[in-house]
Amino acid sequence: ESVRQRASTGGLPSDGFIDSTLADIHTRYRGLDDGEVADYIPILAEADPRWFGLSLIESDGAVHEAGDVDIEFSIQSISKAFVFALVCQSRSSELVHERVGVNNTGLAFNSVMAIELNDGKPLNSMVNAGAIATTALMPGATSAEKWENIRTGLSRFAGRPLRLDGRVYESEMKTNQRNKALARLLESYGRIITDPLDTVDIYTRQCSLLVTAHDLAVMGATLADGGINPLTGRQVVSAEVARDTLALLASCGMYENSGEWLFEIGLPAKSGVAGGIVAIAPGKGALGTFSPRLDSAGNSVRGQRACFHISRVLGMNLF
Ligand code: DON
Repeated sequence: ESVRQRASTGGLPSDGFIDSTLADIHTRYRGLDDGEVADYIPILAEADPRWFGLSLIESDGAVHEAGDVDIEFSIQSISKAFVFALVCQSRSSELVHERVGVNNTGLAFNSVMAIELNDGKPLNSMVNAGAIATTALMPGATSAEKWENIRTGLSRFAGRPLRLDGRVYESEMKTNQRNKALARLLESYGRIITDPLDTVDIYTRQCSLLVTAHDLAVMGATLADGGINPLTGRQVVSAEVARDTLALLASCGMYENSGEWLFEIGLPAKSGVAGGIVAIAPGKGALGTFSPRLDSAGNSVRGQRACFHISRVLGMNLF
């Protein structure tokens, strides 16, 4: 599909132009029925495939939205980006770089082979194994304390207290044998030294936090603005950590499709299997999208189309 690429230099267009672009793109893609709602976590299959929300929040705090921006869904893998940032902030980016890595696996998000091929190294914090290894580095004397640090940290990014969806957590804990196996495999290689099953429990909780498309845009805009939440004015992480997080998202945020995504859309981004995507335009703002139908890599179909179109029309593309 051809959509003219607006020059990406300078700021975003006027408020009125952004509002009408979001409304147009919502109308254009809401009928797109490609892809399937995730069902490997059984409760996710209850999502209404029609849900579709678009939120764009600018670095100055201006909010533009269309569709279902207030429906809560589980953050899932998008949590990985923000937990990575919190761990870099409280420990160091170098530590995560050394222990986990920052290169794309080229394989699916829950790949076992990626670990086996790389001497037990999970390669990056955006795939399940690397995210579990990153969660293991979260400060806290007990698992409860680590979890509370994650919950409050992600809430600071969102600018409101985020709560856990107990049903999503229970559903995933019953069916996440593969994540438990990944954690045991990392343990066998000496790549995590905390209790592997406790760590998967915390990781599953972080994935079960509820957010809206609006929250994702606020969280992304915080990374776009050097770690400062544009709605609360609070510095959540340093500018350096925000930069490191965006660099990692650019290469690994959309799993094995990250190269294609960067080529077509040109923004650091992260997706989750409940249907959320956050895409960040450094210095400008961020897009939060929500629509549950996914492609085979686990990325929201309408969300990807919307990001493609919005990024081009508004000149958000980095390049
Ligand atoms: O660990 C899992 O499989 C899920 N909690 C999260 C996976 C996910 O969101 C992959 N995303 N596209």
